Amino acid sequence: MSMILFRNGQFVPEQEAGVSPLDRGFLYGDGVFETLRCYEGKFFRLARHVERTRAGLARLSIAPPAWLDDAADILRELVTRNAVAGGVARIVVTRGVGEFGLLGKQATEPLMLVACWNQPPPAAARYERGINCMIAQQRLMATAGIKSLNYLPQVLARREADAAGADDGLMLNSHGHVAEATAANIFLVLRRELVTPSLEGEVLPGITRAAVLELAHAEKVPVVERVVHATELVHAEEIFLTSSVGEITPVTRLSGHWVKVGQPGPITRDLMRAYAALVKRDAK
Ligand SMILES: Cc1ncc(COP(=O)(O)O)c(C=O)c1O
Repeated sequence: MSMILFRNGQFVPEQEAGVSPLDRGFLYGDGVFETLRCYEGKFFRLARHVERTRAGLARLSIAPPAWLDDAADILRELVTRNAVAGGVARIVVTRGVGEFGLLGKQATEPLMLVACWNQPPPAAARYERGINCMIAQQRLMATAGIKSLNYLPQVLARREADAAGADDGLMLNSHGHVAEATAANIFLVLRRELVTPSLEGEVLPGITRAAVLELAHAEKVPVVERVVHATELVHAEEIFLTSSVGEITPVTRLSGHWVKVGQPGPITRDLMRAYAALVKRDAK
């Protein structure tokens, strides 16, 4: 059965949701996107995802499409039409159709696509045993703080990690500091303090990251947002990644070495439990 998508005001089968070859999202990655996890037809902090979409569009000087206000209704409709129980949703907004050329002044009508499909959650082993990461050679772009359609560095870093037999690549920013993973934020536990790269360092302001910071404060875990040097990774007592789809994923191996004892640590496990409870309570 073909998936139903929302495309600029209409619900259409995927075959009819085609994008113009002159769409600037297709030509230049001139747009933004959001990925959300769908929990039994509900979403966690959808308003924050919409806020981040607006912030990204503002950075790109793209006028936000009016339909963004209706994101909750659109997603609810897609959940029903596609019979989504658990899965993933994607919101994409591009500058729309313009002529060839970088400036894109003719593109005045943004394109908004929304999709929502059934997808099983990440494998349980990722949470029980943790995943294996490496530092990617591929650096982030300076626009990494915007969830733009320019994900080539992340794509290359994920492929680099896969080719090396790792689950994910940790990415350094233009200063050579640890910024995030290919599609997730990173946290370290160092001397029982939770450390995460600060948002100034070309880091996406993750919605899961923000939730984890709230939970850590509530649980009286000391937290610091600061520059993280790659050399600190080997001293970490615990490492985990955060993202809407992957939630809190322990990292237990780094470039072939165990992180501490090679098992998800106690602070990670506590936060995983607290996050699951928060999602259960707040998903709407
Ligand atoms: C580069 C990058 N960093 C971090 C994240 C985590 O963001 P969030 O927790 O809002 O899903 C993502 C999400 O896909 C991402 O693409």
